[in-house]
Amino acid sequence: MERIRIGPEQRLFVLTGAGVSAESGLKTFRDQDGLWEGSRVEDVATPEAWARDAARVWRFYSQRRREARKAEPNAAHRALADMEQALGERFFLCTQNVDDLHERAGSRRLVHMHGELFASRCEFSGAGMGAFACSRGPFQDDSLYETEAAIARCACGGRIRPHIVWFGEMPLKMNRIEREIAQSTTMLVVGTSGAVYPAANFVHWAGAHVRRIYIGPEEPGNADAFSEIVLGKAGEVLPGLVDVD
Ligand code: APR
Repeated sequence: MERIRIGPEQRLFVLTGAGVSAESGLKTFRDQDGLWEGSRVEDVATPEAWARDAARVWRFYSQRRREARKAEPNAAHRALADMEQALGERFFLCTQNVDDLHERAGSRRLVHMHGELFASRCEFSGAGMGAFACSRGPFQDDSLYETEAAIARCACGGRIRPHIVWFGEMPLKMNRIEREIAQSTTMLVVGTSGAVYPAANFVHWAGAHVRRIYIGPEEPGNADAFSEIVLGKAGEVLPGLVDVD
């Protein structure tokens, strides 16, 4: 496809999903028969799963920590870091991914709306805890927890949980994301099936004047909302795609 020109008054908003890490060897979710790394989502990625069997949840995320440690950023992550270098504050990246491959490629102006694999927090911290909330925030953590007894405890007595937005929980940093979308003139959505909300709606939040481009090997569920669809792998399409004025 021809290069996308970003003029001096223009701003680029990028949304990435699991597909951007596929070429690094990390599996995407929805192409696995409803299973996610051999587990049902309801057994490992919901508040109910945590209440029922926290050790099982931690075994799942411990395994994902192991896999992410072994993975390396690919050409797509690097291309997005290059775009940020060229655009500075006119660039913003929102990822649904919890791996740290964007950071390791050099991205800095990014938010993880679904949390971070290498961070943990007290189970009583965060939104929805009311007056009983624990004030300890998320912290960097690459430990592996395999049994209930091994799960670390907060000073308040709560168990340490993954800093991940599970199904049924509120995505993070939504105010910042909405602000960035409102200011953008080009939106690039890469490697996401367009099935999980609110991220699947971002393309609708962009104004009609915004150029809305999807990149991935197959059409996403919300394909109709884009002004352009580029079928191809992120690592092949993204390098050199953006032309900055
Ligand atoms: N380059 C670009 N896209 C790719 C590539 C690639 N090399 N390989 C696969 N894809 C695309 C697939 O075509 C698919 O549309 O990546 C998409 C992956 O879709 P999902 O597995 O549904 O992942 P995602 O959309 O990121 O899931 C959203 O769901 O489970 C939750 O919280 C989790 O953040 C996740 C959210």
